[in-house]
Amino acid sequence: MAAPMIQNANVQCRKYLLYFANHHVDFRISELVALAEMFGINLSKESLKHHNKECPFLKLTLPSETEAKQLASRSVLIRSVIELWGHGNTHEDLYEDLRKSKDAIVPYLSRPSSFKIVVDGFNRSLPHKYKIQMIEKLIDGALPFEGKIDLKNPDEIYYLLEDYGKQSKNATADPEHVYFGRWITDGNRGEIQNQHITKRSFIGNTSMESSLSLLMANLSKVQKNMLVIDPFVGTGSILVPCAYHHAYVMGTDINYLLLHAKAKPSRSNQKARAANESIRNNLADYGLESYYCDIMVADASKHAMWRPMEIFDAVITDPPYGIREGARKVGKEDSVSLTEEQKVDHIPQKIDYDLSNIFNDLLNFAFKFLRLGGRLTYWFPVHRADYKEENIPHHPCMRLVTNCEQVMNTRISRRLITMEKCQPYREDQCLASHTNVDHYLNASFREMYFKVTENPQKSSKSDRNSQTNTKPP
Ligand SMILES: C[S@@+](CC[C@H](N)C(=O)[O-])C[C@H]1O[C@@H](n2cnc3c(N)ncnc32)[C@H](O)[C@@H]1O
Repeated sequence: MAAPMIQNANVQCRKYLLYFANHHVDFRISELVALAEMFGINLSKESLKHHNKECPFLKLTLPSETEAKQLASRSVLIRSVIELWGHGNTHEDLYEDLRKSKDAIVPYLSRPSSFKIVVDGFNRSLPHKYKIQMIEKLIDGALPFEGKIDLKNPDEIYYLLEDYGKQSKNATADPEHVYFGRWITDGNRGEIQNQHITKRSFIGNTSMESSLSLLMANLSKVQKNMLVIDPFVGTGSILVPCAYHHAYVMGTDINYLLLHAKAKPSRSNQKARAANESIRNNLADYGLESYYCDIMVADASKHAMWRPMEIFDAVITDPPYGIREGARKVGKEDSVSLTEEQKVDHIPQKIDYDLSNIFNDLLNFAFKFLRLGGRLTYWFPVHRADYKEENIPHHPCMRLVTNCEQVMNTRISRRLITMEKCQPYREDQCLASHTNVDHYLNASFREMYFKVTENPQKSSKSDRNSQTNTKPP
């Protein structure tokens, strides 16, 4: 990991504009902070504190382009990074601001290099004619470029960005804010398509969509040569971005049939699973097989099979919420005693695994097997009306780092929780996880999920969609 870089008076810091995708807006700052920590980049807390989720623009001061490129190289929420030359509430304010930043701009104006200017509006689609007018006004008013315009292969790309904010409904209203700057780089959003689950042979009903799996890997700061485990691995979609970042990956799942390509296929046009459907082959298709350690059929509630070693750098998972079928773990409802002979090929009985225990076991597992400073990232389902921050499971030796909401429908959301192990393992703390206020106490999450308030006909389509990760809200 790179040593943290502190912004000080000797460093000539530049202003950058992060242009975010209008997607997973609650996760932007958490991803940015995790990546900055990973690359040892110091971010100003002030700019982060004032970020408004409704707005896709964030002004940031960074020591140089290098840091801007590092952040974007991993981010799946940043669309582009722009070196900010000026901004203002109106175009006139922008021109004024640009004239003030002459020192940074003049070298580019007098270069013979070719350029193009991209005009983009947030919350408003801008007609071509308007864009041309704005470019002409900008060049006349503040930026007399000497180079030639080249729309196909320019040496430099500039962005004129208009934020219409809440004005979007009023077609004649002016933008609320305008920005201008030099394009530096794009984020890593192309990887969302490259890793799209529809491109994989082995998928299931709850395979995690690629943008979220990539995000989870970023929040856990997954890097080269780390060891990552998903204890509820399913079809292994969370492991794909981890292997893509060159971490070694492994997982466990209780479902023997799924892991052995014998479960019901999830594609409607497929009658039976192909014999080669496996997590290993999914990774091989991406050229990532060398990062595959192993996948085991095992019950995540039982930790005895693991040696007590702080071996994992990250635990990243999407535990079962018991929506499609109740979550299960190995256990006995009735006390059946087996002979030694019967034990050999005995398939153990399973009992219900309630949500509170799933999360307590998960935190205890992470505390026991993560290295100090290692991260646990997992989804926690909530009934929105009843949710309180105290509901988030906690452990005295696991620090809560992020808690971001993904709304599934009007009543239900899930929160992406990241925790960091902040105390070394101690036997006396190994079962210390608990949920302070257990909001699953009176009804199972499944009951709350399917509870239709007054009139079943009135429930929205998204309310009726089963909780599959392949159909994001
Ligand atoms: C929400 S799915 C995870 C999906 C996974 N992220 C993927 O990409 O396919 C939860 C998984 O937990 C598994 N599971 C349920 N109870 C379990 C247990 N006690 N131990 C281990 N795995 C369990 C289920 O078989 C299911 O595959």
